[in-house]
Amino acid sequence: MNPQNFISEVRTKAKQLKKSIVLPDAADPRTIKAARIIADELIAVPILIGNETEIRRLAEKENTNLQGVRILDPEKSEMLSDFSHRYFNLRKSKGIQFTEAQEIMKKPLFFGAMMVKEGMADGSVAGSLSTTGDVLRAGLQIIGTKPGISVVSSFFAMIFPTKLFSFADCAVVPDPTAEQLADIALTTAENHKAITGEEPRVALLSFSTKGSASHPHVEKVQKAAVLAKQKNPSLLLDGELQLDAAIIPSVGKSKAPGSPVAGSANVLVFPDLDAGNIGYKLAQRLGGAEAVGPIVQGLLRPAFDLSRGCSVDDIVNTTAINAVIGAV
Ligand code: ACO
Repeated sequence: MNPQNFISEVRTKAKQLKKSIVLPDAADPRTIKAARIIADELIAVPILIGNETEIRRLAEKENTNLQGVRILDPEKSEMLSDFSHRYFNLRKSKGIQFTEAQEIMKKPLFFGAMMVKEGMADGSVAGSLSTTGDVLRAGLQIIGTKPGISVVSSFFAMIFPTKLFSFADCAVVPDPTAEQLADIALTTAENHKAITGEEPRVALLSFSTKGSASHPHVEKVQKAAVLAKQKNPSLLLDGELQLDAAIIPSVGKSKAPGSPVAGSANVLVFPDLDAGNIGYKLAQRLGGAEAVGPIVQGLLRPAFDLSRGCSVDDIVNTTAINAVIGAV
């Protein structure tokens, strides 16, 4: 795959799938403009969630025609009562009151997540107005995790001129255990294949390569590599590896001879969120990569987060990826 064609290929794949995607941050002109493009280009069926009067007022102000774009107002929806009961039942063991559940269900983010859970939509894309924490909490509390997956995490598609890497986890799990790190590696490998069609070659990163240093942080990564290999023996995966050993063939050859991925890794798994978040921003800001994400993974159905600084195009592209990932 030519990395420069990544976005256009994902958009083409999404068109064939005809998914319906809720856009809960609809009180944002960027979301409204994105919905128009998504509908016009048949990337998905967009559903704007929020106060209908406000959405129509914003659309008019932005000169954006909303013909053919569905708007769902939680406060006026006949589903509100049923959704409130469902949310109450999900969260009552956590001490929530029914009146609180009703108020939470009026929030577009949570209402949209419930639509996804109930199969009324295929996925959700939010975050241009909502914080990362809120977007993730709506997904975690309502949609829940995939069977067999212990942790919800995220990855970025990092597009360089001649290669696309998947970086994980850069946005969700602050300090993963070895078990969680193994799951992050396996899920990212699966999704790397889904979005690029390439065979994943997974490196579990550390400041040590194959025992060159000893420290509890290194042992965590070593343990994660063992667990991931046990869960999926056929996957090309290795760790612990330093970044240069993972991606530079000559260094990989000398530091980790015989490794199935050293020097040619395309999935980079960072040991914790400090490393992952700093790592992807370095690659983006100093390395010149285009960063697409965070792509949230491990939920039963996809609910993606956007940066609050996102562009209209980012919303359209994230919606296309949401449609494609949801089809895996
Ligand atoms: N995977 C699976 N389950 C999880 C996860 C996870 N990663 N995180 C929390 N849960 C569970 C909780 O245990 C809880 O379960 P329960 O309802 O059975 O008790 C449930 O999901 C709901 O969790 P909350 O308590 O509502 O959420 P929490 O306070 O644990 O926060 C969050 C989760 C939001 C993901 C938190 O870990 C977080 O803030 N992460 C960092 C996000 C961030 O700021 N990223 C950096 C910026 S993004 C960027 O730069 C692109």
